[in-house]
Amino acid sequence: MTAYALQRRTLAGAALLLLVAAVVFVADQMVRTLGTLTAVERERDTWQRPEEIIGSLDLRPGQTVVDLGSGAGYFALKMAPLVAPTGRVLAVDLRRQSLAFLWIRARQGGLANLAVIHGEPDNPRLPPGPVDAALIANTYHELTAPDRILKVLFTSMRPGARLVVVDRGPRASTESRSEATAHHELTATAARDEITRHGFLTEFTDERFIDRAADEDIWWLMVFRKP
Ligand SMILES: C[S@@+](CC[C@H](N)C(=O)[O-])C[C@H]1O[C@@H](n2cnc3c(N)ncnc32)[C@H](O)[C@@H]1O
Repeated sequence: MTAYALQRRTLAGAALLLLVAAVVFVADQMVRTLGTLTAVERERDTWQRPEEIIGSLDLRPGQTVVDLGSGAGYFALKMAPLVAPTGRVLAVDLRRQSLAFLWIRARQGGLANLAVIHGEPDNPRLPPGPVDAALIANTYHELTAPDRILKVLFTSMRPGARLVVVDRGPRASTESRSEATAHHELTATAARDEITRHGFLTEFTDERFIDRAADEDIWWLMVFRKP
């Protein structure tokens, strides 16, 4: 073998080793993140009241439910078994990484009826077909184009469908919309005004759905219906 060929072989070997090391590193990071997500969600289960939030949607097998701002799937993964086998969860988010973890977790859990959708800030890019229920959890305050999102949701929802919105609000409600958004919070009143302007009817409001003494914020929960 010539010195040149030997050098090429050594370089190829080194490149392969680097590639394997990178794959192992990424796989290890993914496993760690999945473990962290599970641990964080287990703790969240102790105070977030997910059964009541999801219960407000009154889901039935066969229904299509949208989780707008699904993140890594705290709610979407809990909802998928409730609408299975023929119903589906459309999990929409802007962050590809969160959706990738949600996709992996759905496969790990054998939840074939959960679809991840990479939405745009003003368009959830829902597939055609009526939506039976929608959840916006811990996300409404982040919406930069709430009117566009609400318009699309209202149009895609069938009459009678429920929209459940749960979010954090300031204890003192003197902030403007932009100040509140910057603080990751919004008053129930401000959100309700925006949502009902789009034609949704208010079914239920709990302004102190979660009130933990240690927290700066309180959580409100509202249930709306498309007439
Ligand atoms: C605080 S996280 C909440 C995630 C999840 N709902 C939960 O409770 O664990 C808010 C999520 O909303 C997403 N988001 C913000 N604006 C959005 C939009 N217009 N459409 C879809 N997702 C959005 C963000 O990318 C983020 O993942």
